[in-house]
Amino acid sequence: MMTITDELTNLESQALADLAATSDLAGLADWKSRYTGKAGALTRALRSMGSVPAEQRPELGRRLNALREQLEAAFETAEAGLKQAAQDAELAADRIDVTMPGHAPALGHLHLTTQVLRQVEAIFAEMGFQVWESPEVELDDMNFSQLNFPPDHPARDMQDTFYVEMPPEAPAVLLRTHTSPGQMHAMHRYAPEPLRVLLPGKVYRNEQVTARSEMMFHQFEFLAVGHNITMADLKGTLAFFAERMYGPGTKIRLRPSYFPFTEPSVEMDVTCFLCAGKGCRICKHSGWLEIGGCGMVHPNVLRNGGYDPEVFSGFAGGFGPERIAMLKYGIDDLRNFYSGDVRFVEQFG
Ligand code: DAH
Repeated sequence: MMTITDELTNLESQALADLAATSDLAGLADWKSRYTGKAGALTRALRSMGSVPAEQRPELGRRLNALREQLEAAFETAEAGLKQAAQDAELAADRIDVTMPGHAPALGHLHLTTQVLRQVEAIFAEMGFQVWESPEVELDDMNFSQLNFPPDHPARDMQDTFYVEMPPEAPAVLLRTHTSPGQMHAMHRYAPEPLRVLLPGKVYRNEQVTARSEMMFHQFEFLAVGHNITMADLKGTLAFFAERMYGPGTKIRLRPSYFPFTEPSVEMDVTCFLCAGKGCRICKHSGWLEIGGCGMVHPNVLRNGGYDPEVFSGFAGGFGPERIAMLKYGIDDLRNFYSGDVRFVEQFG
């Protein structure tokens, strides 16, 4: 028959073998309840002491205590080992390789229109023009009347206007239809000193949106006022601008035109940069590209600006950067500019 000492020896080897075979924390908890826990094998062995002859009990008690200490120590070692292994595994799984190439974030860039405007600003800056901003929400008076549009002059119909709803007694307010009212702001600010300003910005027209017209687009206005400024100065300025913008050898041509705020008024053309004036599809075989309007500032406008037209003269013009970009890059639809389609915008990084 197996003695209680044999049983304890078996229990010891069984418990240690089971512990060695335990590979996770749940298994450990299970092992504890089977061997060293309150209802485990050791507790049961302790209870069976009663059936052992009294002279053997002290020895058996020591043996049991030693076994309990041994098993509890083995448990702690196994538990620490498993916890360490779990932590190692977690760290290994989470490891970041800082030498891996990163994901480069997509970088934006300036919109094509802004690029053209910056180029224009730089060219005019070379000739001493300072960049000026003026409001997009404007008085009708500034947009039209001060620029020499009489109240019912048909020239007002050249531009379909977005008016702002105002109380009846308030002055008429609109979204500016051109950058020309900026001329008035600049003159009011500087008269009677000579001035040279470049006014880039958005303009608005209540127009059917098509490949050639948008409700919002940009213009840049240039204005020079001083003593003895003549049409030759305008022409020289335009020639310089055209060569800088379109390359050396670009020629300009002025055709008579009409604007209420200039007299005389002209349209400027440049030699087609695609065919160098020989004639092609872009210039419709004329050899010339139409860029925009300009002229000598009308005496009434000078007067409204605070300058004596007997003493001062000036030139002004207003061109469209989108048109300049369309011609330069062969863009055939103005709607591309502001439709928000990045496939278009990204081509001009
Ligand atoms: N404001 C005109 C337009 O929007 C363009 C223009 C023409 C501006 C002649 C000028 C100018 O300053 O002198 O069509």
